[in-house]
Amino acid sequence: TILILDFGSQYSHLITRRCRERNVYAELMPCTTLIKDINFKPKGIILSGSPYSVYDKDAPHVDPTVFKLGIPILGICYGLQEIAWNLGGEVTKCDHREYGFAEIQINKIGGGESVDALFEGLGEEMQVWMSHGDQLSQPPPDFHVIGHTKTAPYAALAHNTKPLYGIQFHPEVTHSPRGKELIAKFVLSICKCRQNWTMEEFIGKEISRIRDICGQRGRVIGAVSGGVDSTVAAKLMHEAIGDRFHAIMVDNGVLRLNEAQQVNEMLNRDLGVNLTVVDASELFLSRLEGIEDPEQKRKIIGNTFINVFEEEAAKIEAAADEEAKAGAAAKGRVEWLLQGTLYPDVIESISFKGPSATIKTHHNVGGLLKDMKLKLIEPLRELFKDEVRALGRLLSIPVPLVQRHPFPGPGLAIRILGPITRDQVKILQHADSIYIEEIRKANLYDQISQAFAVLLPVKAVGVMGDQRTYEQVIALRAVQSEDFMTADWFVFPADVLRRISSRITNEVAGINRVTYDISSKPPATVEWL
Ligand code: XMP
Repeated sequence: TILILDFGSQYSHLITRRCRERNVYAELMPCTTLIKDINFKPKGIILSGSPYSVYDKDAPHVDPTVFKLGIPILGICYGLQEIAWNLGGEVTKCDHREYGFAEIQINKIGGGESVDALFEGLGEEMQVWMSHGDQLSQPPPDFHVIGHTKTAPYAALAHNTKPLYGIQFHPEVTHSPRGKELIAKFVLSICKCRQNWTMEEFIGKEISRIRDICGQRGRVIGAVSGGVDSTVAAKLMHEAIGDRFHAIMVDNGVLRLNEAQQVNEMLNRDLGVNLTVVDASELFLSRLEGIEDPEQKRKIIGNTFINVFEEEAAKIEAAADEEAKAGAAAKGRVEWLLQGTLYPDVIESISFKGPSATIKTHHNVGGLLKDMKLKLIEPLRELFKDEVRALGRLLSIPVPLVQRHPFPGPGLAIRILGPITRDQVKILQHADSIYIEEIRKANLYDQISQAFAVLLPVKAVGVMGDQRTYEQVIALRAVQSEDFMTADWFVFPADVLRRISSRITNEVAGINRVTYDISSKPPATVEWL
């Protein structure tokens, strides 16, 4: 295991992922964690970046015991400065904050041909990503320079005898193309971690863990949405306890076209999961009718979801109670609630909050069902999304589903920019299905992280035959993103866009114009509301 101590950088979770990608288990903890409180023995520690300056009066500092453990330590950016601060080096403010690409030259050791183990095989120079306001002006005693840039003479350091390393740049971001390899060098060659973190291993262990928790009796209920996380969690529960697990899908009326039916076929028929689909679309749509304010839309959907889910859960509980009374073969009462919590949600709640609060991602609709008095079971809470996908493939979940783009809990409601009406939902469902169908036909679906159509509340002039038309506008959005904290718009081949636009304007009544959103995040967000 690699322990990543988080000083509040927005990239900390990426360090964790880079280790996991090499099948090395890595866990992130706040930088304030005391070594004596850690209940495992890390083989190496990585100190993350931070929005702080080491000399700030409220700057976070690592438990100095880490330097006495004798295990390898890699400091990244602030992590390097933290090593220097602790071990007698000097850090000063740069004249200008350095942000962007830099070229790092790898130093030869002692005038010979070899380079430090951290850089072995990575070439003589590397493009790296910098984002810092401070830098080292004096390395601590007994450290030597292993890499430098034009502006940072001490861009990478190593201790003369101990496995202590510091680098000024961020190897964890994709803008440092060989950064992944560098992290792999650290965890594999220097820390000598075993590569035993695989989903094959995880499945077996997790199924036994679930069986241990759930015992011989007792049922678990959980909501499914058709998304990857809830599907994988549901299938895993099914593998562990069969039909003592009961999935509930709520059709909220603002799903994609035919979504509820497709999920039903796939989960129930193909995967054998015990599933009830509740068609509550009328209830949702009547509560949403005419609502324009996005927060109100979210609130109505969240609350209504809880109402419907609880009602359905109560039915299952009542049936289970009846059965329990009836005798020995009973599967027990409903005792647990399944949640598809992923590791990024866990990180979000434990990571060190720097002065610039972390950029918030969103909660799934429903959130924790606080009043349900059920125990929580969260089989995916150690996993990143790509790991959940790998797990899904191992569980024989069909590939198109495993690769599915995320879909927000409030669904199409936050993609209808004006007031919600049944008619507006239909228009958007239709346009969206054409858009996604054409993306799939062009074989682009897997290159895109998320694609969807947005219905704008404005009307524009058009012409059809000899008639002028005055109809609504569809905006198309497609982004590529690693973690949805930042995103770039996707560059479509022109002919694909042309086909999509022509189909939507021809086939969807009420639309006479299609635009493509070319904004990146930041400053825009992925969704329009
Ligand atoms: P933004 O728009 O914040 O989106 O750049 C980032 C990711 O979050 C999803 N998203 C939501 N998911 N409820 C959700 O369950 C929401 O209210 C919500 N808003 C945005 C969005 O689809 C993207 O994947």
